[in-house]
Amino acid sequence: MDNHETEQRKSEHLDIVLHQKVTSHQITNGLERYRFRHEALPEINFSHIDIGTKFLNKTLLAPFAVSSMTGGTDSALYINQNLALAAQERGWAMGLGSVRAALEHPEVAETFRIRKYAPDILLFANLGAVQLNYGYGVDECKQIIDLTEADALILHLNSLQEVFQPEGNTNFQHLFSRIEALCSALDVPVGVKEVGWGIHGELATRLYSIGVAFIDVAGAGGTSWSQVEKYRSPDNQIRHAAEAFTEWGIPTSDCIIDVRKHAPHQHLIASGGINTGVEGAKSLALGADLVGIGRSLLHNASSASTPDTLISQLKRIEWELKVAMFGIGCKDIPSLKGTNRIALIHP
Ligand SMILES: Cc1cc2nc3c(=O)[nH]c(=O)nc-3n(C[C@H](O)[C@H](O)[C@H](O)COP(=O)(O)O)c2cc1C
Repeated sequence: MDNHETEQRKSEHLDIVLHQKVTSHQITNGLERYRFRHEALPEINFSHIDIGTKFLNKTLLAPFAVSSMTGGTDSALYINQNLALAAQERGWAMGLGSVRAALEHPEVAETFRIRKYAPDILLFANLGAVQLNYGYGVDECKQIIDLTEADALILHLNSLQEVFQPEGNTNFQHLFSRIEALCSALDVPVGVKEVGWGIHGELATRLYSIGVAFIDVAGAGGTSWSQVEKYRSPDNQIRHAAEAFTEWGIPTSDCIIDVRKHAPHQHLIASGGINTGVEGAKSLALGADLVGIGRSLLHNASSASTPDTLISQLKRIEWELKVAMFGIGCKDIPSLKGTNRIALIHP
């Protein structure tokens, strides 16, 4: 694919995600079905609440990650810069969008070189797992890590998105063995994420068993890629078919619970439709180690030349998390993760 096509696809994605309704009509992340039992006398000092945590042996000031989103276009240069500066300032982790564009079109590599803005953060590089069937292997993944100076590589599973894209790569056969080989050959941990339709417990268990270091469920309830591709497709048939998948996917909360049931102690990121610190608190209480936020950060990341408004948004999310912890008397992340104060209010 030439650079113009890749860049145009990525620009269209950004434009659609920022300006169209790209969520499902009914399906939600499911977190609204859970409620914390309020503690009127929390017996802690609000100013002592500590939301710091560790993930993959790296210290984070807050249990949040910017989900993998962009790179490879003109606007990605400053979006990634803003996201990186904000992540560095607040001590969040951050994922880059698929770095494939940088290998195929070195002229856009700069949009992925954000380490200089965020020297201390936990940084994830990103590649579609399906690319392992389309000429990508250990060498290319090592190049991706070198170029981005990332701490880990995330492989994304986006089978339905590929089907809806006119230029999609749809051969998902034999990926377990390719992922396994990659996990043992790379010096950095390899994680696997979805892009908004969710990962269930059995799949997570199988992925952990072949050496995958962490899973990001990227469940349903937020950005829906069938919706995004619906706006892009020139083909009437595909647009109609995409509409039929509006309610597809496993809600984020169901993914967290299912993965935790199957794999109680493995590294787990919750994401998919999470916008507030309260939803973050619920995800952690249900078993996640880290909470990923994608589309809802894009507006502030793309609308200003400085990261200030984005940093304010990150602070607000952290504050909401702290207030939720105060409301149930949890003074730190381990006690939030161990709380029994969360209950399903209706199935
Ligand atoms: C503009 C945009 C581009 C994205 N590109 C990627 C990508 O390159 N790789 C990836 O793993 N996920 C990508 N995603 C998916 C997100 O990482 C996330 O899983 C998904 O948007 C669900 O989270 P949300 O509901 O908080 O947006 C992208 C999302 C957005 C909004």
